[in-house]
Amino acid sequence: MRSLIDILELSTAEIDELIDVAKDIIADPKKYSEKCHGKTLATLFFEPSTRTRLSFEAAMYGLGGNVLGFASSDSSSAAKGESVADTVRVVSGYADIIAMRHPKEGAPLVASMHALVPIINAGDGGHNHPTQTLTDLLTISREKGRFNDLTIGLCGDLKFGRTVHSIIGAMSRYDNVKFVLISPEELKIPGYIKQDVLDKNNIEYVETRSLEDAIPELDILYMTRVQRERFFNEDDYIRLKDTYILNAKKLEKAKSDLSILHPLPRVNEIAVEVDSDPRACYFEQALNGKFIRMALILKLLGVE
Ligand code: CP
Repeated sequence: MRSLIDILELSTAEIDELIDVAKDIIADPKKYSEKCHGKTLATLFFEPSTRTRLSFEAAMYGLGGNVLGFASSDSSSAAKGESVADTVRVVSGYADIIAMRHPKEGAPLVASMHALVPIINAGDGGHNHPTQTLTDLLTISREKGRFNDLTIGLCGDLKFGRTVHSIIGAMSRYDNVKFVLISPEELKIPGYIKQDVLDKNNIEYVETRSLEDAIPELDILYMTRVQRERFFNEDDYIRLKDTYILNAKKLEKAKSDLSILHPLPRVNEIAVEVDSDPRACYFEQALNGKFIRMALILKLLGVE
């Protein structure tokens, strides 16, 4: 039995396989429409979500399976003090696979030690979000056709941004990838990511505060939201929340084949006028999340 807690648990060959399956699902969804008949996915979301939870549910329904779960800790027995370990042990009797989001870093890992079915980390605090990274990789593959030879700008909350931490890990395994880390001082990438991932893999990176200076050299611009829920101090959030707003004017200096990604939800960090720019990929990215999660469910359930 295999869970997915961290994107690095998947080899690059396995990621290629998942992407190939996702592309095949996109090309011929009917072929997959009964693959999970009789199987059940549980979505245990202790933190809010739109895309991840609903795309997991859409993925399982698209495979002919069933879905059960809860969308907030308030509506589960976690509100009465039940542990994650007990919750997943019990839900293992009701479902064949569990997708879990939790505000505490490491909670899905703990869950995987107690569950009797595969656990998928659907985001744990400011730590990791491996299925968002699979979504991002499918999007990059469809947009760019390669993972090598890319300059990737990551902009916004690089400190608490779990999607940023996961994509840096995943992309650090490819050749000639350079990161431009764009953030205010207070939201810089954590030291452990620099040491354990970037330096360890000899990945080229620069840190800057200026989106305008960085934009001309980028092949991919990955915008992120400054996350109110990760701040201890509301004043700090208000001071930093609108540091970066991508708009049409800033994009004038960007490459014509730039791909603009964002895990969503967005607040103000991408102006609505950018949505009609052909370089904006974030809504396609959200759709890709359904197809790659279908591929992942098939893999973890061992369905051919
Ligand atoms: N990208 C993402 O995780 O979105 P949700 O929080 O809506 O699931």
